Amino acid sequence: DAAEKGGYEHYMRKEIHEQPEALRQTIAGRLDVDGGDVDLDVSFPPGFLADLEEIQIVACGTSNYAGRYAAQLFEELSGVRATVEIASEYEFGAGRSPDRTLVVAVTQSGETADTLGAVRRANAAGARTFAVTNTLGSTVTREVDDTAFIRAGPEIGVAATKTFASQVATLTMLAVAIGRERGALGAADARPVLEGLRDLPGAVQQVLDAEPKVREAATEYGDSEAFFFVGRQLGVPVALEGALKLKEISYDHAEGFAAGELKHGPLALVTPDTPVLAVLTDGARADETMNNVTEAQTRGAPAIGCVSAGEEYGTLDVSLPVPDVGLVEPLVANVYLQLFAYHVANDKDRSIDKPRNLAKSVTVE
Ligand code: AGP
Repeated sequence: DAAEKGGYEHYMRKEIHEQPEALRQTIAGRLDVDGGDVDLDVSFPPGFLADLEEIQIVACGTSNYAGRYAAQLFEELSGVRATVEIASEYEFGAGRSPDRTLVVAVTQSGETADTLGAVRRANAAGARTFAVTNTLGSTVTREVDDTAFIRAGPEIGVAATKTFASQVATLTMLAVAIGRERGALGAADARPVLEGLRDLPGAVQQVLDAEPKVREAATEYGDSEAFFFVGRQLGVPVALEGALKLKEISYDHAEGFAAGELKHGPLALVTPDTPVLAVLTDGARADETMNNVTEAQTRGAPAIGCVSAGEEYGTLDVSLPVPDVGLVEPLVANVYLQLFAYHVANDKDRSIDKPRNLAKSVTVE
């Protein structure tokens, strides 16, 4: 067991640190940066993408948040309306054309019963189905029309970490591929996105190298009453994911939401004992988010921000720099939130790799 953890005390921390390598595998041989294109080795029937009206993403938990991230990219890069459903809630929906809809199931394990149920409902409605998964030969791959593998390598910790990063990277490539094929995205506009993906492993490594600073913040604020995670746009799924990670392994109360919503209710909960963690990167409308963070600070809340390198918000209690990688920058910020959750839980001596009441793969609906 100790050997398998490669010197780490927990699989989770090992897997957090494996992210640069996992991401290298995810993008290996798939990016044509100069040509502004992507090769995911999937082909759609002739005319399908040109006629595509909607992409529906179905997934649970962390995979759902990867889907929420991707939905924004599908709209921006592929020029297709994109929706995200919690898989257990999914129905195909009235007023849609199944032959003009792509249903994308995002599932690390490929065995999540809720997600398989959604895929079956999509298939029954006559939609084209697509899986984004980490697991070769998993059930989902046998039930969909096409699959893209995220190639993150095995993930043992119940808390998903490196697979979230590889899911978002794979979905970003899918959004570029669809956008290029539909003619909605030119090579010149695709290129900076692909450069961001190419630079992603190195950017994540820089965050991992800053772990001592996050550990310190975790020790300083870890005993708080509750934790709020906020962001805008691409920062919202990262805020939701940051909160899920913390509650899952530390058993502390954590909540993530769109920063603009703070003043519509949650602000009533904010006190000096409720730190706010904010995604203040490119792609997340940082200045507006910071205004909301300031409102929380006025009520005494400490504020920890993941900030684009080169930017500065002098009033933050802790500022964590995020290298500039464009649309995938909030994904890099997420690595700080993973480390924060890990160290808060580790300081409390929690069962990090196997949190109470949870299973790695949920095979019941
Ligand atoms: C994440 O940390 C959780 N363990 C959980 O939310 C997980 O992402 C969810 O159960 C979905 O699993 P899947 O990706 O294998 O479908």
